[in-house]
Amino acid sequence: MRKYPIDAIREAFPGLKRSTGGRNAIFFDGPGGSQVPNSVAKAVSNYLIHHNANTGMSFETSLETDRIISESLQACSDLLGASNPNEIIFGQNMTSLNIQLASALSRTWGVGDEVVVTRLDHDGNVRPWALAAEWSGATLRKIDVDPKDCTLDMESVLENITENTVLVALGAASNLSGTINDVRKIADIAHQFGAEVVVDAVHYAPHSLIDIEEMRCDYLLCSPYKFFGPHQGLLWGRAERMSKLPVAKLRVSSEIMPFRWMTGTQSHEGMAGTMAAIDHIAWIGREYSGDESLSRRNALISAYDAIEKHERALCLRMLEGLGEIDGLRIWGVTDPQRIAERSPTISFTHPSISAGEIAKILANKGIFVWSGNFYALELTEFLDLEPEGVLRAGVLHYNTMGEVEDFISEVREILAS
Ligand SMILES: Cc1ncc(COP(=O)(O)O)c(C=O)c1O
Repeated sequence: MRKYPIDAIREAFPGLKRSTGGRNAIFFDGPGGSQVPNSVAKAVSNYLIHHNANTGMSFETSLETDRIISESLQACSDLLGASNPNEIIFGQNMTSLNIQLASALSRTWGVGDEVVVTRLDHDGNVRPWALAAEWSGATLRKIDVDPKDCTLDMESVLENITENTVLVALGAASNLSGTINDVRKIADIAHQFGAEVVVDAVHYAPHSLIDIEEMRCDYLLCSPYKFFGPHQGLLWGRAERMSKLPVAKLRVSSEIMPFRWMTGTQSHEGMAGTMAAIDHIAWIGREYSGDESLSRRNALISAYDAIEKHERALCLRMLEGLGEIDGLRIWGVTDPQRIAERSPTISFTHPSISAGEIAKILANKGIFVWSGNFYALELTEFLDLEPEGVLRAGVLHYNTMGEVEDFISEVREILAS
């Protein structure tokens, strides 16, 4: 293996060159949306300038658009480890796609059925299922969280998933505590009862390799704008099921997968950009392995291996540095031995100053972080953290150890005063 190509990665992101608050801006706002490499911006503008058209006609730009769509579907199936590109559905964002999926599934449920969500999830994977339960007469159940380390309570998992369960909705990783769930274990439990499993991989996708077969899920969603792409959402589901579900669609729109789910005219430029974002990650894998000939999927496997190693080192240092500050409470796994159980997204609170105030001071110093609940409302309510929420710093593959050290010393200084 070669060295992690951090300089080349940073060079690819013009946005990282911003200087503000007397320093080179530190982007720890990634869990809300990442920066974008040049290649993604170029792919979007290249599509709009040279290939812009609607689909399905025999003139050149329309044919080129059809080709770009099918290449993007292939890139997304490489990202998810899917074998059939026609099982990938593009949409506006994860939330809209999940509402669409929930409304289709709700038409297959009735009274006596049970839908299970978790208190760890973003509302985008809770509320659509609460609504679907309401529409169908099904009952909603919630899996609890262990407040000590913000992991799912396995006893609660076993209590809530029963022979009445029709669907379990859970996240691959929490966008607040960073907790990585054992999706496969929970999917296996759900499948024993014949329930389906929908996974929100929005927060997981920039950090770790998605493998839908390994996760054993039935549906998975993620958002390219969290993994260096444009504002878009992705849904994966097996063609056999997705081609039959009663999705709301126009009479004139295609019945063919995946287009029966892609309502109206899509963001073709977004698809071109999403493909470029996936290729950006694959490029890292080829750089890191030194093997130019790797297939896209194998390059992605190598890339995520490199990204995880890089991000975990930064996360460990952040946990250590913040952990030394008096009174500061980190919400989530903090044990260095359990680093694989969390993404490098660190949320904390301090009794003497609100998260919002800390975020504002950091913003003035050129450090971009989030405060609030980030729509992980179930969790902040459960942990009694409303209305202030937490301060969240999220590391991405383009961040450096120097940025982590600067962040720790600025936070230390703010909390000392
Ligand atoms: C874990 C998680 N799930 C779902 C969403 C919603 O994604 P989108 O903005 O694509 O609807 C987000 C957005 O922050 C998220 O972090």
